[in-house]
Amino acid sequence: MTDPHTTGRATLTRLADAEDLRTQLARDARVGLTARPRCLPPKYFYDARGSQLFEDITRLPEYYQTRTETAILERVVDDVVAAIAPAEIVELGSGASRKTRLLLTAMHRLGSGDRYVAFDVSEDAIREATDALCRDYPWLRVDGVVGDFDHHLADIPHGDERKLVAFLGSTIGNFHPDEHGRFLRDVAGSLRPGDGLLLGVDLVKDVAVLEAAYDDAAGVTAAFNRNVLEVLCRELGARIDVDAFTHVARYDAEHAWIEMLLRAERDVVIDIPSLGLSVPFAAGEHLRTEMSCKFTRERVEALFAGAGLTLRRWDTDERDYFAVVLGVPAD
Ligand code: SAH
Ligand code: TRP
Repeated sequence: MTDPHTTGRATLTRLADAEDLRTQLARDARVGLTARPRCLPPKYFYDARGSQLFEDITRLPEYYQTRTETAILERVVDDVVAAIAPAEIVELGSGASRKTRLLLTAMHRLGSGDRYVAFDVSEDAIREATDALCRDYPWLRVDGVVGDFDHHLADIPHGDERKLVAFLGSTIGNFHPDEHGRFLRDVAGSLRPGDGLLLGVDLVKDVAVLEAAYDDAAGVTAAFNRNVLEVLCRELGARIDVDAFTHVARYDAEHAWIEMLLRAERDVVIDIPSLGLSVPFAAGEHLRTEMSCKFTRERVEALFAGAGLTLRRWDTDERDYFAVVLGVPAD
């Protein structure tokens, strides 16, 4: 068999296809919309439009996260990559794979490896990102994998050599805190001695800074949040008066999480005839679409310890807004 990489193109593996996702969306919508409080899982934000809106969010003045994580990586990337000397970089929730470029360039400079695996639930995001990487880094072998890290972590194809798994953007914070430990244990379980996990986490800080990051003045986050309703309309034939819902982001200091909500501004019904569902919302009632947990060093250390990981590096910016953490399997 010829090596597909000699064509200068990325491979694409689908661990989940559009039909699987729609089936799952139907199930999650049924469970979430009939639960109290009403909720939806966040993975459905990221259709083509949602992925583009998230890219726009990363450039907003209020959304300090991407800019701060990028600056930390620029400062420490050579040391981080040299600590592992990976043959390949595997990224979970890779999105546009923008910050990844720093890691890939460092791997190339070090001469330790030439392979990148991008794993994301959004096929559109994977296609765009991996095409651009193939174009810009002719030396790189690129594999795109479409899947869901709730189901397919163990199935991500990778080589036998040393790897660095990257999970950036504080996407881990979009899991409920009860799931952080399990998720890290699963990831740690895929690591062998010598491998590493590079995790980006957003840190606990001033409420006003946090809330502004999820409720920007230009309304991009509001559009992103409401887009999940458009996804329900398109994928499940739902009938929703999207304009009846407004975006709300609030910080809950007790749980150290931002809650993203859609609030019904008047009495309104979400109708999904294909599921036989008709969900009334009273004016003022919320649908929870996302949470974004904020972390402390103590919390990350405890999670790592529980997952069998040793904290090798903890790098932050001067304001302590964000941390890039390197973990390795404990001896
Ligand atoms: N890593 C990028 C993107 C973060 S946004 C950055 O740091 O900027 C979160 C990404 O995770 C999106 O690209 C989204 O499509 C992906 N994602 C969300 N839920 C997912 C799931 N359950 N499985 C796989 N990918 C998921
Ligand atoms: N991982 C990102 C975060 O929690 C995802 C995100 C940013 C997000 N802004 C959002 C999710 C707005 C939903 C709505 O920061």
